[in-house]
Amino acid sequence: MKNNSGHEFMVKTRYANISPSPQNSGVVPQPPLELALPDGAQLLPLPRPADLVLAPMELRAAIEARRSIRAYAETPLSLAELTYLLWVSQGVKRVSARPSTARNVPSAGARHAFETYLLINRVAGLTPGLYRYQAIEHGLLRLETAADIAGSIAHACIDQPQLTGSAAAFIWAAVVERMFWRYVERGYRYLHLDAGHVCQNLALGAEQLGCGICPIAAFDDELLNNTLGLDGEEMFVVYLATVGKKTDKK
Ligand SMILES: Cc1cc2nc3c(=O)[nH]c(=O)nc-3n(C[C@H](O)[C@H](O)[C@H](O)COP(=O)(O)O)c2cc1C
Repeated sequence: MKNNSGHEFMVKTRYANISPSPQNSGVVPQPPLELALPDGAQLLPLPRPADLVLAPMELRAAIEARRSIRAYAETPLSLAELTYLLWVSQGVKRVSARPSTARNVPSAGARHAFETYLLINRVAGLTPGLYRYQAIEHGLLRLETAADIAGSIAHACIDQPQLTGSAAAFIWAAVVERMFWRYVERGYRYLHLDAGHVCQNLALGAEQLGCGICPIAAFDDELLNNTLGLDGEEMFVVYLATVGKKTDKK
């Protein structure tokens, strides 16, 4: 298993082989903690995480119940349920003076390089379409897209039907500079490790709501990044997950 680009990536990202970091240069400022809001943009407010009232669930029961669910009930998610899922997967607990964010998931060096895009199909009170979660402000930014964004995203995900059949899809896109600033080439590994934590918190949080999720990594990178308006180099999709209320179907 040597002559392949995966092996080459692992070798080139060994500590011995990586470049000096922009952080250690002392002259490159730390990138911003999240994408800026466009001028004049209005954020849709979300319920405060502290105010969410949810039926409790034993962690062990959630772990035992979790499995990948690809077909969902027609029932929409409530805004409170969507908020809870955003909070478990990317919620900001505090912004510290370093500056950095402390979130409900770990991240290598607290770099937290992800932006969460949301494909909304069936969430009460939200017009279907594409949104971005502003994690620090805890609000949603509605994004302009071409018509049938759900169909386009599904197509970029190798036509997997759960993209259009779900109540919502979480799409985690990395701003690579945030990770690269400290960890340079090795940071690309960490992005993919971070993504696993994010998705697992989503999966366990979803169980508490009677929802299921399906993690998705089978997608056409170029097509999906283009569909979301990402350049594929400075910013690219790492991982997705669809979510919806459980039905009896598999
Ligand atoms: C990194 C990763 C990528 C995955 N990508 C997809 C995918 O693109 N489509 C899909 O239907 N399932 C996907 N899955 C779900 C797996 O197929 C599933 O976790 C596996 O079959 C085990 O089943 P379980 O999750 O029900 O335990 C992915 C899971 C992981 C962890």
